[in-house]
Amino acid sequence: MSGLDGLLGGASRMADDVDALFFAMVALCGFVLLGISAALLFFSVRYRRGSGASRRGGTSKNLRVELVWTAIPALLFLGIFAWSITLFAQIRTMPQDAKTVYVVAKQWMWKVQHADGHREVNQLHVPAGKTVLLTMTSQDVIHSFFVPAFRVKQDVLPGRYTQLWFTPEQTGEYHLFCAEFCGTDHSRMTGRIVVLSPQDYLAWAGSGGATSLAQRGERLFRQHGCSGCHGELATVRAPELAGIYGKAIALADGSSVIADERYIRDSILLPSRQIAAGYADIMPTYQDRIDEEDVIALTAYIRSLSAEEDAADERG
Ligand code: CUA
Repeated sequence: MSGLDGLLGGASRMADDVDALFFAMVALCGFVLLGISAALLFFSVRYRRGSGASRRGGTSKNLRVELVWTAIPALLFLGIFAWSITLFAQIRTMPQDAKTVYVVAKQWMWKVQHADGHREVNQLHVPAGKTVLLTMTSQDVIHSFFVPAFRVKQDVLPGRYTQLWFTPEQTGEYHLFCAEFCGTDHSRMTGRIVVLSPQDYLAWAGSGGATSLAQRGERLFRQHGCSGCHGELATVRAPELAGIYGKAIALADGSSVIADERYIRDSILLPSRQIAAGYADIMPTYQDRIDEEDVIALTAYIRSLSAEEDAADERG
């Protein structure tokens, strides 16, 4: 955290870098504005009507001067471009070792699910100093998750997952806004990010004794009858789900796909789209029966099966 943060309310590790770039651009543009305005003023006075200044065109040319005034601004603005693109790449590169939180947006609220089973509406509790990765989707229209104090914003789209990460540095409460017009109550689709000290966070997370997201997914797996086909005792031939998460899946059309969150979501809601090689297109769609939050829980359960598998492999 620097002095700039205190002044501007930046509260994430990335905020300093974003602010530095922003002010460098303001300074550079301000410098150009001042230079042009000064020249404008100078020429307006010098060549005003009635002044005796010579209006004959200059006769000499100076290639070096022309090159210099072309090259220096070009280099300055290319420098800003390189700086921005580097920072943008940094912001858009998702961290590997972050705490993952799932967000489902809908008209007009933010629904949050933690891996440990905690669920929140219009608020998100996170520990200070820990990188948080949000995996987000929308139940209806396009929304946008915007936390000004962290200098992060990401569109939340129906039908796909988008991600966003931040590392909060100071404890406190920060505004969460929807930054995409999404209907009548768009302006009221707000919330708060509560950044707690690690101890306070443990106390918060420890309260409640909720079942974990994966456990909730397991329950849904039985409720919706998934286990009837994908379970160990199933009579229908359906793909085995343990151990598939993160692995390459061969498809019937000869291509392959990595079994990530998007693939699992599509397999539940649009099962006919990508058929695993060697299996028939017999799974019914769950589009109107399962909402996005439950899809996330089911995915967490399928993912947990892979974690068990990996652990078993390691034990050998
Ligand atoms: Cu949601 Cu605007």
